[in-house]
Amino acid sequence: MAAQPEAGNAGKKVEAAGGPVLVASGNGLRCTSLAREMVLGGSNLLDAIVAGVKIVEDDPNDWSVGYGGLPNEEGVVELDASIMDGPLHRAGSVGALRNIKNPAAVALQVLRRTDHVMLVGEGALKFARAMGFKEEELLTEEARKEWLRWKANLNKEDKWLDDDQVIRAGEGYTPRRTGEASPHNADPGGPIRPDSPIRHTTGTVHVSGVTGMGDVGSCTSTSGLSWKLPGRLGDSPIVGAGMYCDNAVGAAGATGRGEAVIQVCGAFSIVQHMEAGLSPTEACLAVAKRMVDRTREKRLLDEKGRPAFNVTFYAVRKDGSHGSASVWSGSRYAVSDGKGNRMEDSAFLFSKD
Ligand code: GLY
Repeated sequence: MAAQPEAGNAGKKVEAAGGPVLVASGNGLRCTSLAREMVLGGSNLLDAIVAGVKIVEDDPNDWSVGYGGLPNEEGVVELDASIMDGPLHRAGSVGALRNIKNPAAVALQVLRRTDHVMLVGEGALKFARAMGFKEEELLTEEARKEWLRWKANLNKEDKWLDDDQVIRAGEGYTPRRTGEASPHNADPGGPIRPDSPIRHTTGTVHVSGVTGMGDVGSCTSTSGLSWKLPGRLGDSPIVGAGMYCDNAVGAAGATGRGEAVIQVCGAFSIVQHMEAGLSPTEACLAVAKRMVDRTREKRLLDEKGRPAFNVTFYAVRKDGSHGSASVWSGSRYAVSDGKGNRMEDSAFLFSKD
Protein backbone atom coordinates (compact mmCIF):
# COMPACT_ATOMS: atom_id res chain seq x y z
CA MET A 1 0.00 0.00 0.00
CA ALA A 2 1.30 3.46 -0.89
CA ALA A 3 2.34 5.68 2.00
CA GLN A 4 -0.52 7.82 3.27
CA PRO A 5 0.01 11.55 2.80
CA GLU A 6 0.50 13.27 6.14
CA ALA A 7 -2.66 15.13 7.04
CA GLY A 8 -2.83 18.34 8.99
CA ASN A 9 -0.25 20.91 9.86
CA ALA A 10 2.29 18.79 11.75
CA GLY A 11 5.73 20.24 11.11
CA LYS A 12 4.36 23.40 9.53
CA LYS A 13 4.16 26.95 10.78
CA VAL A 14 2.59 27.47 14.20
CA GLU A 15 -0.65 29.40 13.68
CA ALA A 16 -2.62 29.32 16.93
CA ALA A 17 -1.70 32.15 19.26
CA GLY A 18 -0.65 30.98 22.71
CA GLY A 19 0.00 27.38 21.68
CA PRO A 20 -2.83 24.89 22.10
CA VAL A 21 -6.17 26.53 22.88
CA LEU A 22 -8.98 24.41 24.32
CA VAL A 23 -12.53 25.59 24.99
CA ALA A 24 -15.35 23.70 26.67
CA SER A 25 -18.80 23.95 28.13
CA GLY A 26 -19.13 25.25 31.69
CA ASN A 27 -18.60 21.78 33.17
CA GLY A 28 -15.40 21.28 31.15
CA LEU A 29 -12.59 23.19 32.85
CA ARG A 30 -10.98 19.94 34.01
CA CYS A 31 -11.24 18.70 30.42
CA THR A 32 -9.56 21.68 28.78
CA SER A 33 -6.85 21.79 31.41
CA LEU A 34 -5.94 18.11 30.99
CA ALA A 35 -6.28 18.18 27.20
CA ARG A 36 -3.97 21.19 26.89
CA GLU A 37 -1.35 19.58 29.11
CA MET A 38 -1.54 16.41 27.04
CA VAL A 39 -1.18 18.27 23.73
CA LEU A 40 1.79 20.19 25.11
CA GLY A 41 3.23 16.82 26.15
CA GLY A 42 2.97 15.55 22.59
CA SER A 43 -0.42 13.79 22.58
CA ASN A 44 -2.65 13.74 19.56
CA LEU A 45 -5.37 16.42 19.92
CA LEU A 46 -8.31 13.97 19.73
CA ASP A 47 -6.75 11.60 22.29
CA ALA A 48 -6.24 14.58 24.58
CA ILE A 49 -9.81 15.83 24.15
CA VAL A 50 -11.28 12.36 24.78
CA ALA A 51 -9.17 12.02 27.92
CA GLY A 52 -10.52 15.36 29.11
CA VAL A 53 -14.13 14.47 28.28
CA LYS A 54 -13.69 11.17 30.17
CA ILE A 55 -13.30 13.11 33.43
CA VAL A 56 -16.88 14.37 33.11
CA GLU A 57 -18.21 11.09 31.71
CA ASP A 58 -16.83 9.26 34.77
CA ASP A 59 -18.20 11.81 37.25
CA PRO A 60 -21.43 10.56 38.91
CA ASN A 61 -22.18 14.11 40.05
CA ASP A 62 -22.65 15.37 36.51
CA TRP A 63 -26.21 14.30 35.74
CA SER A 64 -26.04 15.13 32.07
CA VAL A 65 -23.09 13.08 30.86
CA GLY A 66 -21.88 9.47 31.09
CA TYR A 67 -22.06 7.53 34.35
CA GLY A 68 -24.74 9.04 36.58
CA GLY A 69 -26.49 10.76 33.66
CA LEU A 70 -30.27 10.98 34.06
CA PRO A 71 -31.98 8.13 32.18
CA ASN A 72 -34.68 7.88 29.53
CA GLU A 73 -38.37 7.48 30.38
CA GLU A 74 -37.82 3.77 31.05
CA GLY A 75 -35.05 4.42 33.55
CA VAL A 76 -32.27 3.38 31.14
CA VAL A 77 -29.24 5.60 30.58
CA GLU A 78 -28.56 6.10 26.85
CA LEU A 79 -25.45 8.03 25.87
CA ASP A 80 -24.53 9.95 22.71
CA ALA A 81 -21.20 11.34 21.55
CA SER A 82 -19.40 12.53 18.46
CA ILE A 83 -15.90 13.59 17.61
CA MET A 84 -14.25 15.16 14.57
CA ASP A 85 -10.69 15.38 13.34
CA GLY A 86 -9.80 18.58 11.48
CA PRO A 87 -6.75 17.39 9.52
CA LEU A 88 -8.52 14.34 8.05
CA HIS A 89 -11.99 15.94 8.02
CA ARG A 90 -13.23 12.67 9.49
CA ALA A 91 -15.89 12.12 12.15
CA GLY A 92 -17.08 9.30 14.41
CA SER A 93 -20.27 9.10 16.40
CA VAL A 94 -22.36 6.83 18.61
CA GLY A 95 -25.98 7.27 19.63
CA ALA A 96 -28.31 5.69 22.20
CA LEU A 97 -25.41 3.64 23.54
CA ARG A 98 -26.23 1.69 26.71
CA ASN A 99 -23.93 0.33 29.43
CA ILE A 100 -20.70 1.96 28.24
CA LYS A 101 -19.76 5.03 30.22
CA ASN A 102 -17.29 6.62 27.80
CA PRO A 103 -19.13 7.13 24.50
CA ALA A 104 -16.61 9.73 23.29
CA ALA A 105 -13.88 7.08 23.31
CA VAL A 106 -16.17 4.71 21.40
CA ALA A 107 -16.91 7.47 18.86
CA LEU A 108 -13.17 7.93 18.40
CA GLN A 109 -12.84 4.23 17.60
CA VAL A 110 -15.67 4.52 15.06
CA LEU A 111 -13.65 7.32 13.46
CA ARG A 112 -10.38 5.40 13.52
CA ARG A 113 -11.41 1.80 12.93
CA THR A 114 -14.48 1.77 10.68
CA ASP A 115 -15.57 2.95 7.28
CA HIS A 116 -18.61 4.53 8.95
CA VAL A 117 -19.35 7.76 10.75
CA MET A 118 -22.25 6.83 13.01
CA LEU A 119 -23.31 3.73 14.96
CA VAL A 120 -26.40 3.62 17.17
CA GLY A 121 -28.15 1.39 19.70
CA GLU A 122 -27.39 -2.32 19.66
CA GLY A 123 -24.88 -1.91 16.82
CA ALA A 124 -22.96 0.71 18.77
CA LEU A 125 -22.92 -1.55 21.83
CA LYS A 126 -21.69 -4.54 19.82
CA PHE A 127 -18.95 -2.38 18.34
CA ALA A 128 -17.93 -1.12 21.79
CA ARG A 129 -17.77 -4.71 23.07
CA ALA A 130 -15.59 -5.65 20.10
CA MET A 131 -13.29 -2.74 20.95
CA GLY A 132 -12.92 -4.07 24.50
CA PHE A 133 -15.02 -1.48 26.35
CA LYS A 134 -16.39 -2.73 29.66
CA GLU A 135 -20.16 -2.94 30.16
CA GLU A 136 -21.58 -1.61 33.39
CA GLU A 137 -24.76 -0.22 34.93
CA LEU A 138 -24.76 3.53 34.37
CA LEU A 139 -27.82 4.38 36.46
CA THR A 140 -26.65 5.60 39.85
CA GLU A 141 -28.85 5.38 42.93
CA GLU A 142 -29.32 9.16 42.92
CA ALA A 143 -30.34 9.19 39.26
CA ARG A 144 -32.73 6.26 39.82
CA LYS A 145 -34.46 8.17 42.65
CA GLU A 146 -34.72 11.26 40.48
CA TRP A 147 -36.26 9.13 37.71
CA LEU A 148 -38.83 7.69 40.12
CA ARG A 149 -39.71 11.20 41.27
CA TRP A 150 -40.27 12.20 37.67
CA LYS A 151 -42.47 9.15 37.06
CA ALA A 152 -44.64 10.15 39.99
CA ASN A 153 -45.24 13.51 38.28
CA LEU A 154 -46.07 12.15 34.84
CA ASN A 155 -48.63 13.64 32.50
CA LYS A 156 -47.59 17.26 32.98
CA GLU A 157 -43.96 16.39 32.54
CA ASP A 158 -43.54 13.58 30.04
CA LYS A 159 -42.13 14.09 26.57
CA TRP A 160 -45.31 13.12 24.82
CA LEU A 161 -47.07 16.33 23.96
CA ASP A 162 -50.26 16.82 25.95
CA ASP A 163 -53.35 16.45 23.83
CA ASP A 164 -53.86 20.21 23.65
CA GLN A 165 -50.30 20.62 22.33
CA VAL A 166 -50.18 17.94 19.64
CA ILE A 167 -49.47 19.47 16.28
CA ARG A 168 -52.13 18.47 13.76
CA ALA A 169 -51.58 19.23 10.12
CA GLY A 170 -53.25 22.47 9.18
CA GLU A 171 -53.97 23.55 12.73
CA GLY A 172 -52.45 26.35 14.74
CA TYR A 173 -50.54 25.80 17.91
CA THR A 174 -51.81 26.01 21.43
CA PRO A 175 -49.57 27.63 24.02
CA ARG A 176 -48.38 25.71 27.04
CA ARG A 177 -50.48 26.79 29.99
CA THR A 178 -48.68 29.33 32.12
CA GLY A 179 -47.77 28.25 35.62
CA GLU A 180 -47.01 24.66 34.57
CA ALA A 181 -43.67 23.22 35.37
CA SER A 182 -41.57 23.61 32.23
CA PRO A 183 -40.15 20.56 30.50
CA HIS A 184 -37.24 22.64 29.32
CA ASN A 185 -34.20 23.76 31.10
CA ALA A 186 -30.91 25.36 30.51
CA ASP A 187 -27.60 23.78 29.70
CA PRO A 188 -25.08 23.73 32.57
CA GLY A 189 -26.14 27.30 33.30
CA GLY A 190 -29.19 25.97 35.16
CA PRO A 191 -32.92 26.04 34.59
CA ILE A 192 -34.65 29.07 33.15
CA ARG A 193 -37.65 28.25 35.30
CA PRO A 194 -36.26 27.14 38.63
CA ASP A 195 -39.84 26.68 39.91
CA SER A 196 -40.06 23.22 38.31
CA PRO A 197 -40.10 20.52 41.02
CA ILE A 198 -38.60 18.07 38.56
CA ARG A 199 -35.01 18.10 37.48
CA HIS A 200 -34.51 18.16 33.73
CA THR A 201 -31.15 18.11 32.06
CA THR A 202 -30.02 19.02 28.61
CA GLY A 203 -26.51 19.57 29.85
CA THR A 204 -23.68 18.01 27.95
CA VAL A 205 -19.92 18.33 27.80
CA HIS A 206 -18.39 19.87 24.71
CA VAL A 207 -14.64 20.40 24.05
CA SER A 208 -13.08 22.00 20.98
CA GLY A 209 -9.41 22.70 20.47
CA VAL A 210 -6.67 23.93 18.21
CA THR A 211 -3.04 22.88 18.43
CA GLY A 212 -0.08 25.21 18.15
CA MET A 213 0.19 23.98 14.56
CA GLY A 214 -3.32 25.17 13.78
CA ASP A 215 -4.96 21.73 13.62
CA VAL A 216 -8.46 21.57 15.08
CA GLY A 217 -10.68 18.95 16.69
CA SER A 218 -14.03 18.81 18.41
CA CYS A 219 -16.00 16.43 20.66
CA THR A 220 -19.36 16.37 22.45
CA SER A 221 -20.68 13.77 24.92
CA THR A 222 -24.03 13.58 26.71
CA SER A 223 -26.69 11.46 28.36
CA GLY A 224 -29.13 13.69 26.48
CA LEU A 225 -32.43 15.10 27.51
CA SER A 226 -33.54 13.51 30.77
CA TRP A 227 -36.68 11.35 30.59
CA LYS A 228 -36.42 11.25 26.78
CA LEU A 229 -38.18 8.63 24.69
CA PRO A 230 -35.97 5.56 24.25
CA GLY A 231 -33.89 5.91 21.11
CA ARG A 232 -34.06 9.70 21.06
CA LEU A 233 -30.90 11.28 19.68
CA GLY A 234 -30.14 14.89 20.40
CA ASP A 235 -27.62 17.12 18.69
CA SER A 236 -24.56 15.66 20.40
CA PRO A 237 -24.05 12.64 18.11
CA ILE A 238 -25.06 14.59 14.99
CA VAL A 239 -22.01 15.80 13.09
CA GLY A 240 -22.64 19.44 12.19
CA ALA A 241 -25.14 19.94 15.02
CA GLY A 242 -23.57 19.14 18.42
CA MET A 243 -20.04 19.58 17.11
CA TYR A 244 -18.15 20.20 13.91
CA CYS A 245 -14.74 21.33 12.76
CA ASP A 246 -12.96 22.33 9.59
CA ASN A 247 -9.18 22.51 9.60
CA ALA A 248 -9.21 25.59 7.38
CA VAL A 249 -11.43 27.49 9.81
CA GLY A 250 -11.92 26.20 13.36
CA ALA A 251 -14.21 24.13 15.56
CA ALA A 252 -17.54 24.58 17.31
CA GLY A 253 -20.06 22.80 19.49
CA ALA A 254 -23.25 23.13 21.47
CA THR A 255 -24.92 22.24 24.74
CA GLY A 256 -28.56 22.65 25.70
CA ARG A 257 -31.77 21.66 23.95
CA GLY A 258 -30.55 19.43 21.14
CA GLU A 259 -33.75 19.52 19.13
CA ALA A 260 -33.26 23.26 18.61
CA VAL A 261 -29.60 22.87 17.66
CA ILE A 262 -30.23 20.09 15.13
CA GLN A 263 -32.75 22.20 13.25
CA VAL A 264 -30.26 24.98 12.56
CA CYS A 265 -27.24 22.69 11.95
CA GLY A 266 -25.71 24.56 14.90
CA ALA A 267 -21.99 23.74 14.95
CA PHE A 268 -21.67 23.61 11.16
CA SER A 269 -23.35 26.99 10.85
CA ILE A 270 -20.98 28.53 13.38
CA VAL A 271 -17.94 27.29 11.46
CA GLN A 272 -19.45 28.64 8.25
CA HIS A 273 -19.97 32.04 9.86
CA MET A 274 -16.35 32.05 11.05
CA GLU A 275 -15.23 31.17 7.53
CA ALA A 276 -17.21 34.19 6.31
CA GLY A 277 -15.20 36.40 8.68
CA LEU A 278 -17.21 36.59 11.91
CA SER A 279 -15.37 36.27 15.20
CA PRO A 280 -16.12 33.13 17.26
CA THR A 281 -18.47 35.06 19.57
CA GLU A 282 -20.20 36.80 16.65
CA ALA A 283 -20.64 33.45 14.90
CA CYS A 284 -22.14 31.85 18.03
CA LEU A 285 -24.50 34.81 18.48
CA ALA A 286 -25.57 34.72 14.83
CA VAL A 287 -26.53 31.05 15.05
CA ALA A 288 -28.24 31.53 18.43
CA LYS A 289 -30.28 34.32 16.87
CA ARG A 290 -31.21 32.19 13.86
CA MET A 291 -32.26 29.39 16.20
CA VAL A 292 -34.45 31.74 18.22
CA ASP A 293 -35.97 33.22 15.05
CA ARG A 294 -36.83 29.71 13.84
CA THR A 295 -38.45 28.63 17.13
CA ARG A 296 -42.11 28.99 16.30
CA GLU A 297 -44.05 26.46 18.36
CA LYS A 298 -45.74 28.34 21.16
CA ARG A 299 -45.13 25.51 23.63
CA LEU A 300 -41.40 26.32 23.33
CA LEU A 301 -41.86 30.03 24.03
CA ASP A 302 -42.44 31.96 27.20
CA GLU A 303 -45.14 34.53 27.70
CA LYS A 304 -42.97 37.17 25.96
CA GLY A 305 -42.35 34.94 22.95
CA ARG A 306 -38.78 34.12 23.98
CA PRO A 307 -37.42 30.54 24.00
CA ALA A 308 -38.36 28.62 27.16
CA PHE A 309 -35.08 26.70 26.87
CA ASN A 310 -31.41 27.42 26.67
CA VAL A 311 -28.63 26.52 24.27
CA THR A 312 -25.01 27.59 24.52
CA PHE A 313 -22.61 27.55 21.58
CA TYR A 314 -18.80 27.41 21.76
CA ALA A 315 -16.21 28.13 19.08
CA VAL A 316 -12.48 28.33 18.55
CA ARG A 317 -10.84 29.58 15.39
CA LYS A 318 -7.63 28.09 14.06
CA ASP A 319 -5.78 31.27 15.06
CA GLY A 320 -6.70 30.51 18.70
CA SER A 321 -9.39 33.15 19.13
CA HIS A 322 -12.47 31.77 20.90
CA GLY A 323 -15.95 32.67 22.06
CA SER A 324 -19.31 31.43 23.24
CA ALA A 325 -22.91 32.62 23.24
CA SER A 326 -26.17 31.46 24.83
CA VAL A 327 -29.81 32.18 24.32
CA TRP A 328 -30.04 33.20 27.99
CA SER A 329 -27.57 35.02 30.24
CA GLY A 330 -25.63 33.22 32.95
CA SER A 331 -23.64 30.66 30.96
CA ARG A 332 -19.89 30.44 31.23
CA TYR A 333 -17.36 28.48 29.25
CA ALA A 334 -13.97 26.98 30.02
CA VAL A 335 -10.78 28.10 28.33
CA SER A 336 -7.24 26.73 28.60
CA ASP A 337 -4.59 28.55 26.64
CA GLY A 338 -1.23 30.25 27.11
CA LYS A 339 -2.82 32.54 29.72
CA GLY A 340 -3.94 29.64 31.92
CA ASN A 341 -7.15 27.80 32.80
CA ARG A 342 -10.22 29.89 33.46
CA MET A 343 -13.94 30.42 33.03
CA GLU A 344 -15.21 33.19 30.78
CA ASP A 345 -18.71 34.62 30.39
CA SER A 346 -20.69 33.60 27.34
CA ALA A 347 -22.40 36.34 25.35
CA PHE A 348 -26.20 36.05 25.32
CA LEU A 349 -29.37 37.16 23.59
CA PHE A 350 -31.74 37.52 26.56
CA SER A 351 -31.11 38.44 30.18
CA LYS A 352 -32.68 36.27 32.89
CA ASP A 353 -32.85 39.30 35.18
N1 GLY B 1 -27.54 18.79 23.86
C1 GLY B 1 -27.79 17.53 24.42
C2 GLY B 1 -29.03 16.93 23.98
O1 GLY B 1 -29.98 17.61 23.64
O2 GLY B 1 -29.10 15.71 23.96
